[in-house]
Amino acid sequence: GAAVEVDISALKPGEKMTVEWRGKPVWILKRTPEQVASLKKTDSQVADPESDRKTYPTPEYAKNEYRSIKPELWVGVGICTHLGCSPSDKFQPGPQPSLPEDWQGGFLCPCHGSTFDVAGRVFKNKPAPDNLEVPPHMYLSDNRLLIG
Ligand code: FES
Repeated sequence: GAAVEVDISALKPGEKMTVEWRGKPVWILKRTPEQVASLKKTDSQVADPESDRKTYPTPEYAKNEYRSIKPELWVGVGICTHLGCSPSDKFQPGPQPSLPEDWQGGFLCPCHGSTFDVAGRVFKNKPAPDNLEVPPHMYLSDNRLLIG
């Protein structure tokens, strides 16, 4: 089948790995406790905090503030929902060019400046029409993830 099994045992807090699923880059981000906590702060700054928009179907288990099954692990498609560019990691919090004030860490799309938090939620008033996609996935065990 098209499902991809991934060993995430080596992933440390603050690290992101990329695997390919159906020709798309899928990111697996192991969030630090600070990154998990930052999502409360970005709730009011993002366009669709609970993933109610329907550009694509969001799995039920990702319709929450974390957009994930486990708060520390986020699985998302690394393709901007505007015109398909590849957003860059901007995990360092604090003021930086092209990033919203009070930046908590997340992703910046270099093409037209859409910004996303560490749950892939798009900030308000950005060209990207939706959050980054969460692909269907499940945990086979603590260290084995199945995507698709
Ligand atoms: Fe990402 Fe346009 S493709 S902002």
